[in-house]
Amino acid sequence: MNIIDALHSRHSVRAFKPEPVDKETLLKIMQAANQAPSWGNSQPWEVFIAGGETLERLRRAFLERFDAGLPMQPELPRPQQWPPALQQRMAENAANRFAAMGLSPDNEAVKKAITRRNYEFFGAPVVAYLCLERSLTPWSIFDVGMFALGVMLAAREYSVDSIPAVNLVAYPELIRAELEIPENLLILLGIALGYADPEHPANKPRSLRRSIQEVIRFKGL
Ligand SMILES: Cc1cc2nc3c(=O)[nH]c(=O)nc-3n(C[C@H](O)[C@H](O)[C@H](O)COP(=O)(O)O)c2cc1C
Repeated sequence: MNIIDALHSRHSVRAFKPEPVDKETLLKIMQAANQAPSWGNSQPWEVFIAGGETLERLRRAFLERFDAGLPMQPELPRPQQWPPALQQRMAENAANRFAAMGLSPDNEAVKKAITRRNYEFFGAPVVAYLCLERSLTPWSIFDVGMFALGVMLAAREYSVDSIPAVNLVAYPELIRAELEIPENLLILLGIALGYADPEHPANKPRSLRRSIQEVIRFKGL
């Protein structure tokens, strides 16, 4: 698959088939992503990948906490406020998603059921947790972001689907204990990987983008 096709075909998948992704494929994906650029070639990303019984234990523990009403506590704090234009895009995105699934965004029970899917890891057979040394700055988070996109694009070459999600790291202490992640590493983000269930309504919506004319400002060309 060429890179342009990979960029256009990647989208967040919110319902996976239980079919596993083999370790060889995961290694090839990670090896390609590992080519990401970074500040001074510091390569700050540390990756912990859970599947099989390890992931099932985490899934059960996440659901238990979610069902008990425990709030998410990602180690990289969630923004408290968004500039209005971004807030509006997020609201439109949520409204489009609900409409594409034929659901009402005003139904609290439906909203909760959709959020709960996050804590089931969307049924994915694999989750990669991206971590970073605590003392580093946003420059290094930038590097991990580039690694993350590399993972999701390389996955397309092997017909593997993905979703990056903060909810996958909602209860970091569970992940840290299960995967024996050292205390000096921040657990930044999870990327669920697997094969999309094409029939599932959660996979019907597609997010929109601003026009590129709105995003870029050319000068001198
Ligand atoms: C840092 C980050 C955190 C995200 N967290 C979640 C999440 O917790 N749950 C979720 O359903 N989607 C999550 N997403 C996916 C975004 O909603 C999605 O990327 C966006 O709506 C654009 O859609 P697309 O990925 O299908 O192109 C996250 C994406 C990023 C980059």
